[in-house]
Amino acid sequence: MEPSSILFTVQPVCHTVSASSVVLSSVVSETCRLSSCPRATSFSQTVPVSAATMSGKKVTTEYLHKTFLDPNVGMVGTTKAYDDLAEDYNKIVSGFQYKAPLRVVEALTSAIGDRNRSEMKIMDLGCGTGLVGEALYAAGFTQLDGLDPSQGMLDVAKSKGIYGELLCAYVALGDEKLAIPDNTYDGLTICGSMGVNMVPPEGIYEMHRLVKPGGVIVNVVRQETVNEIEGFKDRLEPMMQQMEADGKWKLVSRVLFPDYLVDQGGVIFTHQVC
Ligand SMILES: C[S@@+](CC[C@H](N)C(=O)[O-])C[C@H]1O[C@@H](n2cnc3c(N)ncnc32)[C@H](O)[C@@H]1O
Repeated sequence: MEPSSILFTVQPVCHTVSASSVVLSSVVSETCRLSSCPRATSFSQTVPVSAATMSGKKVTTEYLHKTFLDPNVGMVGTTKAYDDLAEDYNKIVSGFQYKAPLRVVEALTSAIGDRNRSEMKIMDLGCGTGLVGEALYAAGFTQLDGLDPSQGMLDVAKSKGIYGELLCAYVALGDEKLAIPDNTYDGLTICGSMGVNMVPPEGIYEMHRLVKPGGVIVNVVRQETVNEIEGFKDRLEPMMQQMEADGKWKLVSRVLFPDYLVDQGGVIFTHQVC
């Protein structure tokens, strides 16, 4: 079965939405079934993937862990690493069978119902080189802005000619708000940009601030980040739930999917702003 054919039903109106938690256990990644694949290991282990090379060097998950996920690297250090890798980023993630951007589009299109996609103003937060933007644009979301702290990644995104504004900034580095007015967007996507040395759980307050009431936020995070990583497990979801209890947004759906990366599952959180 094609993953894209497995969608979940949602109602795009705050007061009628009921949250659902769906496990797409029947979805099989193109390369392997997670439970039986010899490469299905923790992200922190060395897993050579021959298709992923950077300047002729093989890129392993161990390399990625040291460069991006070691807490000692910090958010600014990680930005430098993204700058250095920007030209090779698309090739590298394609080597890791990165499917998350497609899941973003599925979740957004499902959540907005029959709203006109081309009339919706969308912010792609942590847009990187624009993989999510490309998928959104192809699906008819043509009013796209992007934001990322890595100018190298933004330069690649800009070359695609699909974004309007591209802002070089951090979400939630300290208490400073982004230079974007409240309620600017009809939708916001963030894919693979919450985690160690990236957007922390507090980033959800800025995401919420930028989106109009009735707008939709789709946030794709690695399952490991949600369930196991210090600073995220026991924090990210309770903070999301507290925002719902405070009447700020409603959970539309929480979907687990296995093919975030070759050896990693993801979680798609879709919220509607109240
Ligand atoms: C794994 S990449 C994902 C990029 C893109 N969304 C994709 O799916 O290909 C993570 C991105 O998050 C960005 N990022 C890291 N910290 C951030 C922050 N505090 N605010 C916004 N973006 C951040 C990085 O610069 C990087 O481009």
